[in-house]
Amino acid sequence: MPEHRIDTESAHSARIYDYILGGDDNYPADREAGDAMCREWPALPVHMRANRDFMHRAVRYLAEEAGIRQFLDIGTGIPTSPNLHEIAQAAAPAARVVYVDNDPLVLSLSQGLLSGTPEGRTAYVEADMRDPAAVLDAPGFRETLDLSEPVALTVIAIVHFMLDEHDAVGIVRRLLDPLPSGSCLAMSVGTADFAPDEVGRVAREYAARGMPMRLRTLDEAAEFFAGLDLVEPGVVQVHKWRPNRTDGTENGTGPGYGVIRDEDIAMYGAVGRKP
Ligand SMILES: C[S@@+](CC[C@H](N)C(=O)[O-])C[C@H]1O[C@@H](n2cnc3c(N)ncnc32)[C@H](O)[C@@H]1O
Repeated sequence: MPEHRIDTESAHSARIYDYILGGDDNYPADREAGDAMCREWPALPVHMRANRDFMHRAVRYLAEEAGIRQFLDIGTGIPTSPNLHEIAQAAAPAARVVYVDNDPLVLSLSQGLLSGTPEGRTAYVEADMRDPAAVLDAPGFRETLDLSEPVALTVIAIVHFMLDEHDAVGIVRRLLDPLPSGSCLAMSVGTADFAPDEVGRVAREYAARGMPMRLRTLDEAAEFFAGLDLVEPGVVQVHKWRPNRTDGTENGTGPGYGVIRDEDIAMYGAVGRKP
């Protein structure tokens, strides 16, 4: 079992996110970090829930409207229902999902991601996205997805942990390269465009705990979608991407977190289709 590799003394991005979203899979160091970040920016829970809601809407769009039946989810995080496969398989029971993360705690909890429909399939790959070949060569990837059919690559709330030397745009391109025409990219990308002081302070809290961040402007977020056909409404703050009644975004609110103001959201989101 991978438990011995889990460093419970240091805060970790997946577990801070889990704590702020109300999950139980976190340790005192994560809770201390999450509390410090929320003191710097009280809107952080609103922002994180809006990101998760964007993932739900984007996957529902991909499965229900774009007809996608295969998903490659990079930086999955700690299982939090509804997980991506639950949303995709509610729309299309035969949907196949490959989850990828490099956090040993996510690996130890990955059984919670593998309980899909009998018609569908889910697999978990432990890999670092900075090594795209490790993802694309993994048996779990090659045995689960059929690359003659479109695949949706989902990269949600992770590239802000990729510094310039990691070349996040190049990594995403390499992951998209083997996917056929009609495949899609759904991403959310951290930004300090709307609350620069507060988000800057949160970024300093992450950096102080060994997780430096690279936040991006609108143009930089759009770079990930170069060469793809952007689905309406293009690259927008996540709460403005196809808001709907189910999560309350249609009237500018969300369940349990009241009105969503633009300055409470530090994430761009978009979906693009490979021509
Ligand atoms: C903030 S969580 C996002 C979880 C989920 N995608 C969501 O938006 O709800 C970021 C996740 O990315 C993972 N991650 C960070 N760097 C990674 C890397 N280089 N390769 C793979 N996963 C990574 C972390 O372990 C964490 O689970």
